[in-house]
Amino acid sequence: MKVPPDAGPQHAPAPPGDALVAVEGVVKHFPIRQGVVFKKEVARVHAVDGVDLAVGAGETLGIVGESGSGKSTLARCITGLHPVTSGRILFEGTDITRLSKAGLKAFRRDVQMIFQDPYGSLNPRRRVGSIIGDPFAVHGLASGAERKRRVQELMELVGLNPEHYNRFPAEFSGGQRQRIGVARALALRPRLIVCDEPVSALDVSIQAQVINLLKDLQAEFGLTYVFIAHDLSVVRYVSDRVAVMYLGRIVESARAADLYTRPRHPYATALLSAASIADPDAAESAERIVLTGDVPSPVNPPSGCRFHPRCPKAADRCVDEDPPYVPRLGDPRDHRTACHFPVEEGERLAHREPAIAQVSTEPELPEVDT
Ligand SMILES: Nc1ncnc2c1ncn2[C@@H]1O[C@H](COP(=O)(O)OP(=O)(O)OP(=O)(O)O)[C@@H](O)[C@H]1O
Ligand SMILES: [Mg+2]
Repeated sequence: MKVPPDAGPQHAPAPPGDALVAVEGVVKHFPIRQGVVFKKEVARVHAVDGVDLAVGAGETLGIVGESGSGKSTLARCITGLHPVTSGRILFEGTDITRLSKAGLKAFRRDVQMIFQDPYGSLNPRRRVGSIIGDPFAVHGLASGAERKRRVQELMELVGLNPEHYNRFPAEFSGGQRQRIGVARALALRPRLIVCDEPVSALDVSIQAQVINLLKDLQAEFGLTYVFIAHDLSVVRYVSDRVAVMYLGRIVESARAADLYTRPRHPYATALLSAASIADPDAAESAERIVLTGDVPSPVNPPSGCRFHPRCPKAADRCVDEDPPYVPRLGDPRDHRTACHFPVEEGERLAHREPAIAQVSTEPELPEVDT
């Protein structure tokens, strides 16, 4: 077995040359408090637990991982919606975790978010014209007839009929509502849009239309996207690079084509095989690698490599040592994997039980007084 090269520190330099966003050692813990009066902290959810990544200007970085791996929390940290517990997030070189209120307001013009639920994120009692015009109002940028003109321009841009300016969200279909969300996100001509499951709630045929709209807008305005989705084929279609998250960490990241054809982390390998798209031509004959056990609780993550209780390749070292997140022998510099024993080309992982005894994966949340 090849020993991974000691290719440098865990916080290795970011891969793309012109990083618009650089996430450095970001941690986001949510305290769990107990008690009526003093609300003592009794535990912490390690939602994001030491993430490094970079997003190049004009590119799309996809983020995948099972439910609860911390994708949305990371997205909210990047957009400044969550204060981080520690670490830095550089946007064009400025650390946004230390911005003043005024600085944060200016930053929010450059960064927008599109959410999964086009129903929940639109106030049903407001007309779409005023919803899409919100960012102009918040930033005091356009009012009256000028605001209406700009909102109608945005509606046209995203494929909505500008004459429907006075309609309510309920009068639109699911796909059209997501277009309303896209128009609102575009209002201030942001540089970065973080899309958190933007098409998961839509019918498959509508998904393609919204994804193609996002791609067209990216080409037209030079937008940078962070794109989170459960559907790995959607992520492959939209992403230049993809990062795989597991229990608050990035375990592997690479150019999309490299990751999908040659995943190195056993978790990424299993995730892609489950979706049968690691190699679409061989999908029919491909063996699915079954991920055993549940995702462990983020309150008490496993020692060493967090994937070890579920990993068919786990050895003692994986229990004791946190693997560095670095390029592995034979991989391009921008393909990084946090694994002591990366999967070799042609290696089969299927149907092997973890070599290490399973640890309890039950969440160990303390009972909280009510
Ligand atoms: N505000 C919060 N307070 C406490 N815990 C939270 C909070 N937000 C998220 N968490 C916890 O942090 C962990 C990561 O959640 P997150 O929503 O970021 O995961 P995710 O990868 O987006 O999952 P999904 O794919 O289901 O959307 C989960 O254990 C979740 O319960
Ligand atoms: Mg989420």
